[in-house]
Amino acid sequence: MPATVVVGAQWGDEGKGKVVDLLAEGSDVVARYQGGNNAGHTIVEGDQVYKLHLVPSGILYPGTVCIIGNGTVVDPHALCKELDDLEARGLSLDTLRLSGNAHLIMPYHIALDGASEMKLGHFSIGTTRRGIGPCYVDKAARVGIRAQDLLDPKILREKLRVALVDKNDMLERLYDMPRMDPDRIADELIPAAERLQPFIADTALLLDQALRDGKRVLFEGAQGTMLDVDHGTYPFVTSSNPIAGGACAGLGVGPNRIDRILGVSKAYTTRVGEGPFPTELDDEDGRAIGERGHEFGTTTGRQRRTGWIDLVALRYAARLSGFTEIALTKLDVLSGFTRVRLCTAYRTREGEEIRDFPYHQSVFHNAAPVYEDMDGWSQDITGCQDIDDLPPAARAYVKRISDDIGVPITLIGTGQGRHEVIDQVGSN
Ligand code: GDP
Ligand code: IMO
Ligand code: MG
Repeated sequence: MPATVVVGAQWGDEGKGKVVDLLAEGSDVVARYQGGNNAGHTIVEGDQVYKLHLVPSGILYPGTVCIIGNGTVVDPHALCKELDDLEARGLSLDTLRLSGNAHLIMPYHIALDGASEMKLGHFSIGTTRRGIGPCYVDKAARVGIRAQDLLDPKILREKLRVALVDKNDMLERLYDMPRMDPDRIADELIPAAERLQPFIADTALLLDQALRDGKRVLFEGAQGTMLDVDHGTYPFVTSSNPIAGGACAGLGVGPNRIDRILGVSKAYTTRVGEGPFPTELDDEDGRAIGERGHEFGTTTGRQRRTGWIDLVALRYAARLSGFTEIALTKLDVLSGFTRVRLCTAYRTREGEEIRDFPYHQSVFHNAAPVYEDMDGWSQDITGCQDIDDLPPAARAYVKRISDDIGVPITLIGTGQGRHEVIDQVGSN
């Protein structure tokens, strides 16, 4: 049975955790393919709130195999803390697996992330300061430390020594920061190495076996399309490929193993960190969206920037990943607006109206949204589970989005809870 990928369609925080949790009920395997603990995926189950950063959002279902793939970057200390927290809440970790090829975030990555953001000052990216970028840099530079290195303390020490030659120069000379001792880092890794060793596995092989056995497999993206290092709003992006194609490299599966690609988008737009955002609102509407949607970052607690839905960006995301379906989350947050706005095109500085996402950063930076207005709805739709129970204006809004993108909306979020969703609404 082919696999399903869940992809963020915007700038992250679209509600992927909730969607993966919903689909995980019918899945045998859930695998994360990129990113690290910059991600924060929320699952609300009754009165319990889970904020997952590295562990796949399938962990709430006992028996579901949860894989942290080779394309992720893993802070061993952060992962151990997350595992301790989950275990303390009574969850079993027996089915968790960590790719031996996943790269490890080391203390110097975190130090360099923070130092480079400070140095960039006004031009900073607004990273989560979790060391994500510097860790992917080392992976590409071939001086990274991988999960499998935790299995051999001698190799680990050797690699840390090599990696720190340049890093210590950078820390000291470029950023005026203290040098780091490789042996100390290795010593501090011993408890984490012992804790994580049993989880380390050849996860690409495991996935191949699962797919051959006809198991139902789910690939969980982190971040979102507009944060993709190749296709997003560079340089205001993360350092990996959240788009669906990233799942193949990030897990070691062929593209022909994937047949369902579910793009997750909010019914409006949010962004955390710096960078251009054409539909951003700095007015009462924006504040109302932020308040009703509780738009604060799951990982850093930062206030998220808010705006109307951007169909230009959504069409782009659908194209890049080949969405076969869309999950539209947080529709309930838009209740109470007398009119809702959809950005259908951009107007360039020269006055030209464009419908395709511009490849050139300056065009995007100066893009002004072209809006289409639709009637809003006053009825509270929180918890609604049937498309027929939505007010006609809300239904029309969903249909307008689906028609524009040319992709069916098969899930509609109507609240935080696991069951606050309209499922399988077909092609509207
Ligand atoms: P992720 O990073 O894509 O998993 O998203 P986050 O968990 O960072 O942020 C999404 C937030 O919206 C979380 O607090 C979710 O509980 C919440 N959420 C998800 N879907 C819905 C929905 O349909 N309605 C409402 N009101 N909240 C939702
Ligand atoms: P989930 O998986 C929202 C943003 C940061 C910053 C940029 C680069 O929860 O959707 P990084 O630390 O990755 O180098 O920061 O990317 N960012 C996210 N924004 N949701 C996320 O993850 C994010 N992960 C990174 O705010 O702008
Ligand atoms: Mg998040």
